[in-house]
Amino acid sequence: MKNYSLLLEQLTTQEKVALVSGTEFWKTNPIPRLGIPSINLTDGPCGVRRQEDNADHLGLNESQPATAFPTGSCTASCWNPELFEQMGQAMAEEAKFYDVQVLLGPAVNIKRNPRCGRNFEYLSEDPLLSGKLGERFVASIEKAGVATSLKHFAVNNNENFRFNGDSRLDQRALREIYLKAFERIVKKAKPSTVMSAYNKVNGLYCSENGYLLNDILRKEWGYQGLVVSDWGGVNHRVKSLKAGMDLEMPGDVEFYRFQLLEAIRSGELSEIELNQSVLRVLELIDKTVSTEEVIEPDWKRHHDLAIELATEGAVLMKNDGILPLSKDKKYLLVGDFFEDMRFQGGGSSLVNPRQITSPKEAFEMRGLNYSFAKGYDQTGLADSEVLWSEVESKLADAEIILYFMGQTDFTESEGYDRDDISLPENQLELLDKLLLTGKKVVTILFGGSPVELSKVNQTNAILNMYLPGQGGGEAAARLLFGEKNPSGKLAETWVSSYDSVPFGKDYVTGKVENYRESIFVGYRYYDGVDRSKVAYSFGHGLSYTSFDYSDFKVDYLDEKIIASVKIKNSGKFAGAEVAQLYVSNPKSDVYKPVKELRAFEKVFLEVDETKVVTFEFDLKDLAYYHTQLKDWVVENGKYLFHIATSSQKILDTKEIRIEEQPDIRSPYQRDILEGYYDLALIETISLETFETLLESSDCSELTQSEKYSLDSKLDEFKSHFLGKYFYRAVVGVGQKQYQNALKLPDGPERTTRLKNGVFISKMMPNNSIRSMSAASAGQFKYQMAQGILDLMNGHVIKAMFYFFKKYKVPNLPKNQK
Ligand code: BGC
Repeated sequence: MKNYSLLLEQLTTQEKVALVSGTEFWKTNPIPRLGIPSINLTDGPCGVRRQEDNADHLGLNESQPATAFPTGSCTASCWNPELFEQMGQAMAEEAKFYDVQVLLGPAVNIKRNPRCGRNFEYLSEDPLLSGKLGERFVASIEKAGVATSLKHFAVNNNENFRFNGDSRLDQRALREIYLKAFERIVKKAKPSTVMSAYNKVNGLYCSENGYLLNDILRKEWGYQGLVVSDWGGVNHRVKSLKAGMDLEMPGDVEFYRFQLLEAIRSGELSEIELNQSVLRVLELIDKTVSTEEVIEPDWKRHHDLAIELATEGAVLMKNDGILPLSKDKKYLLVGDFFEDMRFQGGGSSLVNPRQITSPKEAFEMRGLNYSFAKGYDQTGLADSEVLWSEVESKLADAEIILYFMGQTDFTESEGYDRDDISLPENQLELLDKLLLTGKKVVTILFGGSPVELSKVNQTNAILNMYLPGQGGGEAAARLLFGEKNPSGKLAETWVSSYDSVPFGKDYVTGKVENYRESIFVGYRYYDGVDRSKVAYSFGHGLSYTSFDYSDFKVDYLDEKIIASVKIKNSGKFAGAEVAQLYVSNPKSDVYKPVKELRAFEKVFLEVDETKVVTFEFDLKDLAYYHTQLKDWVVENGKYLFHIATSSQKILDTKEIRIEEQPDIRSPYQRDILEGYYDLALIETISLETFETLLESSDCSELTQSEKYSLDSKLDEFKSHFLGKYFYRAVVGVGQKQYQNALKLPDGPERTTRLKNGVFISKMMPNNSIRSMSAASAGQFKYQMAQGILDLMNGHVIKAMFYFFKKYKVPNLPKNQK
């Protein structure tokens, strides 16, 4: 293609409008007349989810079999950029095999609150870790000729209000925490596309947020690629295009094309503005369409890689010495997950696994001496007394109990947030009974995000597998029996209870989400308060061996920080260690976290082997964002460099003085922001104080002129005498599926259908009528949505007008004769 200016001249306005919107759910619009093909976009971050028919972005309908890699919380715990590179290469091969040109990932939103339903897919609470891992993933996929989509830009940190919520935050939190990973990945790995998030940021939808898309992403960071909307994430098509959001997905929304054509006709939108986006779409097509021969991926190699990631990503949280296990003992294995392992999360990232190695298969392959009792049932429906008597009958012979437990698909998924962070009641009751037997119990934990562990902590060891992907069972067996040495480190803090979370009570209570904790997210907060708030700190993870650190040095030369440390494997197992370098900035009138991760390195060491690990980074990486200067500032003063094995386990500290930076006044008035200087007081930060930080006058719930708007959650409809019928029609689909599934015989088919039923019933009430229409690929027309609303707001005539309204738009080019 390439001669874009010639192409632009040849394209009609209608064709251009078609090019900036998708079609058939996963495709861009082709222009057959000019030989412009369409390309395929497909999820996602944990594996390729290529659907041929019955498309959906909810993980409900079947997709082509592909490698289901572990989800983000597990892969991030590897702290190993090299493995992200390999995973990217493998996914690119599978994408090419399935004719996918754009892979919708990575998902690098910050884990702000442990209840966020999508935390399983996201990487970390720390932007440096997310950024470094995401960078390698993007670079390797792009290098292989497949485009990536860095998502969800930005500040998309809850699910309950993802379609209509407004994330309000101060500029410093925005820059230092929520945009940092995006910035790194955009600048260093140059993803071909960035996906705008559904939500608003400081009052403006991300898809029409010119500040985020044009000012920051394009002008400041120099981004050259395309911005694609999240599926159904466009509010006003003209505003979004003007703000720099190029491609609207999944498309086939007549109303949006109508809006664009009208705007061009009236002069509200210039052809030049439209051309910019068209050009980006053409460039994307041009760079990703390949004539290369299609090669079948080496599925076996990819399965092995999935196992390797799961093995490195598993975190040994606790071990009283019981692990590794000997293969000669008699084990009683308890828990539904042993046979039917939970290995991935629900929603758009769901992969149809090519193969699965469950723990049961892995145990059988090893010919181990074990008996098994289900103990609990994931659906929570089975009779627990009956299940317990089976466990009891097998207890006598067992020397050690291995309990496979964790969050289920019924409590954690894309589309809704968790109500609390507890483990399922039936599993905890069973744990009580297992503990009472007096036998040793090892917990093998599954799930995508932190849970409260007070009871689980009474077991002898906790091996946290997270959601380990299709090879999770094999990974668990390798680790339990010491064939491999655990080396995963938590990429997020595990709080001792939900009460520890700053402003936790305010989470998802309304559309406006005030990020009152500012930059104090994750360990940046917990390291500054009472340690009892944390069960397992950021960076924590045990090993079967021990590592000795020595000769920690830090130098400052030519605006660069260079640090090094010697690490020796002083134990009896070969294994890997993650050396973590945190920095405490000087105390000053600028509030700041106790320390921040500034570098890390994973190193593998044979027994008795010693290696020197070096870290190098720019002095400017220690800067804070000055909200008045709108720039990054490095302060003069005493910096403390800590070599550590977790954010709370510092081994050695060195000091460096920085003196030659310009002295710049703090932008803050300390007396009114005391809660940020003394984190024990953080909850005293009032909404009014937060407003001053935000420089905005309104942090309360959004007001709207009509009771119901296109943005209203479906959940709000149920209290309206007419709306409730619409609500029931939509949510009822899930409830009906659930009821029907109950009639099926016990087995995987029943469990899947029950899960889908619950998923629909929990997720749909969070949708807005606008996002439902925009994501329906033309099935639920915008004017229908508008009509329903008018009816609910009492405007019957207007409603009728919309019900009969037709937006006249030309046929799509692919349908033109
Ligand atoms: C998700 C995106 C995903 C898209 C397509 C949306 O609901 O938020 O992450 O890429 O669907 O499946």
